[in-house]
Amino acid sequence: MVTGSAGFIGSHLAHALVQAGTTVIGVDRRDPSTDPTAAANLAALRGRPGYHHVTADLLHCAIDPILIDADTVFHLAGIPGVRPSWGPQFGDYLASNVLATHRVLEASTRIGVSRLVVASSSSVYGPTDGDASRETDRPNPASPYAVTKLAEEQLCLAYAERPVGPSVVALRYFTVYGPRQRADMFTHRALYAALTGQPLRLYGDGHQRRDFTYIDDVVAATIAAGTVPNAHGTINVGGGSNASLLDVINIANSLTGREIQLHQDHVRNGDVLLTRADPGRAGEVLGWQPRVDLHSGLRAHMQALASPVPDYSHAA
Ligand code: NAD
Ligand code: UGA
Repeated sequence: MVTGSAGFIGSHLAHALVQAGTTVIGVDRRDPSTDPTAAANLAALRGRPGYHHVTADLLHCAIDPILIDADTVFHLAGIPGVRPSWGPQFGDYLASNVLATHRVLEASTRIGVSRLVVASSSSVYGPTDGDASRETDRPNPASPYAVTKLAEEQLCLAYAERPVGPSVVALRYFTVYGPRQRADMFTHRALYAALTGQPLRLYGDGHQRRDFTYIDDVVAATIAAGTVPNAHGTINVGGGSNASLLDVINIANSLTGREIQLHQDHVRNGDVLLTRADPGRAGEVLGWQPRVDLHSGLRAHMQALASPVPDYSHAA
């Protein structure tokens, strides 16, 4: 089962699993027959015999009947994004990231799921001193979102300590980019600005750095986390391409031959200056390392953004 399968990362993961011959039950509360983003994300899976979509809210639905034949749960459903988590939506973050996760854990234990992989976040580390973050570092979340992601992964790990229930791998994803990235994220907005000539709002001076991690690498790490025997605990998924926002802007400019028009804005609360993953444990436990460099990844992301997105919003 892949939760959050109508989202950015979940839809790529579900597609890769189906391509590999795995039967996937995708669960998401966004309905592809009414939600254009969900429809576009699921377009490549539409009609595929190995993919079964269930539109349901994990906060309220009966999970056991959906899970009944699943041996592995990839739990990616959640409310992402650092900046809106300061607002009145915090209750939604808490509900989807913590309470719904609790329901998934309870159902997974009842059904006898063997492995649960949960999407955690680099944001649990908070501000760093410049060194690469290791899984043994003390978490220091700097936003309400990051607090819910830390609670989510720790809840899963606490369940994994019990004699019953699935083993748990919590993947700390670092700023994922690539085709179908969420429209609130920086890379999407920078490439969109470069393609259309519309201005880009820059929060701060653009010297913030991120370990930008390409979607195909993230999917490979996630599948490994679901399949490698005896894997457990937290694992960083990042470490390939550390770059500043200005670096991304420069690459976007060079890809289009157009200069992005920048609108400087204030630094947002909870925004850390740097994320940097130590990918050592991912290599040791999962045999994973990032493969796609930033320039190639941004080129692929831009090509996808430039091609017309089919409208499947009326699809069944
Ligand atoms: P996304 O918003 O594109 O996908 C998340 C999906 O979860 C959405 O389709 C949403 O409808 C679904 N969902 C939310 N609450 C639900 C509920 N209660 N029941 C059923 N479905 C629900 O986000 P994404 O960027 O694909 O992120 C996926 C996961 O990875 C999230 O947990 C996020 O916190 C985590 N993550 C993402 C990044 C990143 O860079 N994108 C980095 C670190 C961690
Ligand atoms: C991203 C995701 O949005 C989170 O869901 C995820 O948990 C997190 O990565 C992670 O790695 O764990 P973030 O790194 O803040 O969070 O990624 P973006 O939202 O793409 O922002 C990156 C930087 O660009 C931030 O400094 C932000 O302030 C800046 N930004 C973003 C802008 O300057 N302008 C924008 O329009 C958007």
